Amino acid sequence: MPASDPNRVLIFDTTLRDGEQSPGCSMSQAEKLRVARALAELGVDVIEAGFPIASRGDWESVNTIAREVRGPIIAGLARCNRADIEAAWQALRDAERPRLHVFLATSAIHRQYKLNMAKDEIIRMAVEGVKIARDLCEDVEFSPEDASRTELEFLAEVVQAVVDAGATTVNIPDTVGYTVPQEFSELFAYLKRHVRGIENVRLSVHCHDDLGMAVANSLAAVRAGARQIECTINGIGERAGNCSLEEVAMALKTRESYFGVHTGIQTTRLYPTCRLVSQITGMPIPRNKAIIGENAFAHESGIHQHGMLRHHSTYEIMRPQDVGLSRTNLVLGKHSGRHAFRERVKELGFELEDAELNQLFEEFKALADKKKELFDGDIEALVMRAETGAAGPWSLEQIEIESSSAGSATVRLTLAHVDGRRIEQRTSAAGPVDAVVKAIDAATGTHVEMRKFEVHSVSVGEDAQGEALLTVEHNGRSYRGSGVSTNIIEAAAHAYLEVINRIEATRATAGRNDAGNGNRRRTPDPSVVSAI
Ligand code: KIV
Ligand code: ZN
Repeated sequence: MPASDPNRVLIFDTTLRDGEQSPGCSMSQAEKLRVARALAELGVDVIEAGFPIASRGDWESVNTIAREVRGPIIAGLARCNRADIEAAWQALRDAERPRLHVFLATSAIHRQYKLNMAKDEIIRMAVEGVKIARDLCEDVEFSPEDASRTELEFLAEVVQAVVDAGATTVNIPDTVGYTVPQEFSELFAYLKRHVRGIENVRLSVHCHDDLGMAVANSLAAVRAGARQIECTINGIGERAGNCSLEEVAMALKTRESYFGVHTGIQTTRLYPTCRLVSQITGMPIPRNKAIIGENAFAHESGIHQHGMLRHHSTYEIMRPQDVGLSRTNLVLGKHSGRHAFRERVKELGFELEDAELNQLFEEFKALADKKKELFDGDIEALVMRAETGAAGPWSLEQIEIESSSAGSATVRLTLAHVDGRRIEQRTSAAGPVDAVVKAIDAATGTHVEMRKFEVHSVSVGEDAQGEALLTVEHNGRSYRGSGVSTNIIEAAAHAYLEVINRIEATRATAGRNDAGNGNRRRTPDPSVVSAI
């Protein structure tokens, strides 16, 4: 392994690339930049910002992150061909520390069915990809896709070839989540025995969670010598997802004496970062999710509570504060002042500018007029909405809802557009949510297919705020929206309007791109994502 601290494990975050590939998790450019900044604050070593050739939007996101985010290495993915690698390089070249990540499948199944290539062609193409990348960038990672299902001898041959060609990191993916810890650790041991010069490159691991073993397999690889873990926030990713960053980072920290390694993760930033990604992707964090789920530090049984009262170590192997979970039962209300509000926001892990905080304090006061007691969940929802809500041309000025158990509902609403229009709409339908959707469709002239609609409460009590989350489809793309209010129908209206605003933002971006950008090098091929 190259110089520096041999016990330091690099955290390579691929939330913005592999994570974003999971259905319904796509993010706008502004959202990706927001996540990248949060990842930098969290202390990740590498941010894989995207797959630049996949689409114009991906290229632009990688480029923006490369130009604006300082600290971590910024990586971009490319297949082993010149067009991909050059597109990735153009997007990355302004980064403080760019990395080209090239990949090629090596397993018999992929060789036969996907690539239709013989072993020697695979080796030739992998070597060529690494060489093209090395001519452009000093930091080159190579991944033999589906490594865990590749014949060991052939895998070692490929790894030997790319090490000789100049790869600086060799990543071993368990692409389909097939391996088990012991087997995976033997694979690493095999490579270490059979590849000359492997000690001069960084060995990395990239696991998927199809059998629920992504974290365990990644940890086994670390025991066997891997010094980079590829993972995602909340474990989002293709199918069952990727190795979850928060879990693997806390496993290494909590069991440091067993693993004998450490990471640079600021663990107190875990909870706010996970919340942010959950809010942006619309993928709720399950209550029982390890590390950051609502129940992760809750003790229900009497015996456990009794033990906890004696000493927290009886039933807790980590402290909630260690992962940035400082939720309390502290209640704020309409008499709480700006100072108390500011302190609570800070304790919950959010860092806001004065102007943002003042604006939020006004919203907090307005909410406190409607709702007696405000809990941490309410405050988080306020901040999250301000930070992640899709700004767009439409906003809801007013809404009135009438509905009866007889099966009819009427909604009257007023929408305001940034161009100065105010549109009033009155619509009746079978139920109130249906009426809201139809009224907004009629007012904005946009129609979408509703795919999923959920409501849950963000805090406790009869007057708790409800959060509406919805997913829709429009022109073959899926969009998410969320809205919070003490009135769940109003929450649904906000969520639906957020979706409409996202669609408008996509149209505006597409319009800008179509309008030319004459200095763009090439039009990336959008079909490639489905090719990997
Ligand atoms: O799962 C996988 O094999 C990948 C590679 C592109 C690293 O995501
Ligand atoms: Zn993957």
